[in-house]
Parts: sequence; C-alpha cells; structure tokens
Amino acid sequence: MGRIPRGVIRESSHGGEYAPWVGRVDRMAPIPETFRALVAEQRDGEVDRGLRELSAGELPEGDVTVRVRFSSVNYKDALAVSPKGRVARTSPLVPGIDLAGEVVDGEGTGREVIVHGYDLGVAHHGGYAEYARVPSDWVVPLPDGLSARQAMALGTAGYTAAYSIVQLEDRGLRPDDGPVLVLGASGGVGSTAVGILARRGYEVHASTGKAEEADFLRELGAAQILAREETGRQPERPLQKTRWAAAVDPVGGAATAFALSTTRYGGAVALSGMTGGAEFTSSVFPLILRNVALLGVDSVGTPLDVRRQVWERLADDLRPRGLDEAIAREIELDAVDPFLDEILAGRGRGRTVVKVGG
Ligand SMILES: NC(=O)c1ccc[n+]([C@@H]2O[C@H](COP(=O)([O-])OP(=O)(O)OC[C@H]3O[C@@H](n4cnc5c(N)ncnc54)[C@H](OP(=O)(O)O)[C@@H]3O)[C@@H](O)[C@H]2O)c1
Repeated sequence: MGRIPRGVIRESSHGGEYAPWVGRVDRMAPIPETFRALVAEQRDGEVDRGLRELSAGELPEGDVTVRVRFSSVNYKDALAVSPKGRVARTSPLVPGIDLAGEVVDGEGTGREVIVHGYDLGVAHHGGYAEYARVPSDWVVPLPDGLSARQAMALGTAGYTAAYSIVQLEDRGLRPDDGPVLVLGASGGVGSTAVGILARRGYEVHASTGKAEEADFLRELGAAQILAREETGRQPERPLQKTRWAAAVDPVGGAATAFALSTTRYGGAVALSGMTGGAEFTSSVFPLILRNVALLGVDSVGTPLDVRRQVWERLADDLRPRGLDEAIAREIELDAVDPFLDEILAGRGRGRTVVKVGG
C-alpha cells in the first residue's frame, strides 16, 4: 500500500476517501488473533525476555493501529530490558522505542508512518511486535523519499543526530567554521551524525573506542579519527587549546567536559546521551569566557511539528552519507534479544534495523 501524496484527496482502492493527514475513512484487513512479539517481564529484580504470541486485546490504548514493518535497536532498548536500566516503566513490556509501518486501523489508514519517542517501548508496547497501537498524536507520516526500512536505518538515533545538527546550525554553525567533533562515533547517534555532517560539507573529526571502525567512519565521511582515550579523559583544565567549531555528544561524562574545554569561541556542544556517564564536572569558564553553549537534545518529547520537520529534512538535506550501504545492517525479530546485550556492552556499530513484518 503506497503513501498518500500531500494535498491530494482521491479514491482509494478500497473505495474509501483519502484526505491528507486526516486519513482514509475505510478499514484494512483486521488484525490477526495473535501475532509475534518480543516481551520483557520484570520478576524479582530480573527481566525475563522472549518471543511470544500476543493477542490484539493485549495491545495498549490508542486510536491508531500500525502493522509494524521495521523497528530498530537503540541503546535505550537495551536499557529497557536490563534489570538495572531504570528505563522500563511497565511490565510486561514490548520494547522497541521506534517503528515504521502501515496504519491498518484509525486515522490515516493505509498510510505509512513513523512512531518514536513519548512512552513507546518504555511505558507503552513498542516496535518489537508485528502490530502496535498508539495515540494518533505520536504518529509522523513517512516523508516522501524515505522507505520504511530507511526510516528505521535512521530511527531514534538518526533523528537525534539530525536534531543535534539542526540545533547547532540554528545557533549559526556553518561548514566553513572549522572541524566538528563527533563523540561515540561508531554508535547509532554518532555514525549518523558523521554521515549527515559529511554530506553537508563539514570537516568531521570522529572519536571512537574501536580502532577497528576507523575505515567505517572514513567511509561515512570522517576526515580524522580520534581515540576515546583522548576524548573521554577528564580535562586537566576547563579551558584547553581550541580545536572544533562544535561537537555532537551522545556520550556524556568526562567526554562532555573534554568537548566544552576544546570548543572554539562562540561554538556549541549538542549533548544527547550518556554512554560515558550521566554526570560530568566542568566549570563556567568555557561558557562565560568563550561564549560556548551547551545545548540539550531530547528526541522523546519533541513537539510533533518539529518532529515532522526534522523527518522531512532527514529525507532531504539531512540525509546522511552511507544511509543505504554502510550505516545499517538488518536482523530478524528473533535475533533482537541476544543483540541487546551486545549494545549494552558498547559493542554496537552503526545502526541495526529489525525486520518485523518486512
Ligand atoms: N536525548 C535523546 O533523546 C536520545 C536519543 C537517542 C539516543 N540517546 C542516547 O545517546 C546515547 C547513544 O545512543 P545510541 O543509540 O547511539 O547507542 P549505541 O548505538 O549503542 O552507541 C553508543 C556508542 O557510545 C560509545 N560508548 C560506549 N560505551 C562507552 C563508554 N563507556 N564511554 C564512551 N563511549 C562509549 C560507543 O561508541 P565508540 O566506541 O565509537 O566510542 C558506542 O558504540 C545513549 O546514551 C542513548 O541513551 C539519547
């Protein structure tokens, strides 16, 4: 079922009427009685995880039902199934903080959509199931120029990378300002940030803890590779020799202190993550003597209009280098469970798409 071009009202093949974003008024095939889902259940401080059959009646409240075609693996998904992750807020839970698929019931029936953020995959069943039910105001139309698979090759991580770069550019960053540092570069947010910045003409300096991923990062467009030992060490002084016009930081901890201390006058650090730690120690000096800004980046609660704009741009001028070849690999739903442990151990590389319904 194809997508509905904006601004067009036409007859559907089912005889119903399409109205852009108001949705088609007919119904598609009903949801099967049972369908496959990865379920995580907290028991006595442990989390039991496994594939099982879920029934439509077990889907949560929501006015839109989506046949999930693809989801993806994000660091937060690994936290959501980890006993110490403190991310899951309900049990049992279908994890999967993002999904792309086709609306089969409710507003927009027949349309391809993206859903991520809000409570998805943490307090509301998420993308690791063949069907999902969500509130309509969580739903973003799949933009022209992106397939459902490409949308999940980007996923929450790619969205966060793009939103980080949008915020840096809104503050004035331009390619001729100088190199941009990307921390945690081999991970999901990092690798897509490298690909987006390179495509936009920035000189990208990529920091990674995995020397073996240097070629991968160069393929995405990194001009220089730095070792995590250098960027993840607490700086001795809050102001060091300046090296970058800006930094994309999904790592946090000492790496954030390092980025603040080495960013040029008037630059900014866009902070989105905490794989390197939730706390950092810095000082006021980079901010008040160099006019450096620390920009917080949140993908979970971004207002829907901003979310839609960022996705439109991900299909267009923010599309990363390597989207179709290098960035993402694909796994089946039954391979997700063991893979989540790899992610938690920091062994992720690029993005991993989960083929749910295909
Ligand atoms: N604010 C938001 O809305 C938002 C959205 C998405 C993600 N996030 C957060 O952003 C972070 C990255 O997410 P992701 O999906 O990109 O994860 P990911 O694919 O698992 O990548 C994480 C990367 O962080 C680096 N890393 C791992 N352990 C580290 C450590 N001890 N110290 C420093 N770096 C380490 C590694 O890259 P290298 O080996 O290359 O250094 C790793 O590949 C997570 O904290 C996630 O929760 C936040």
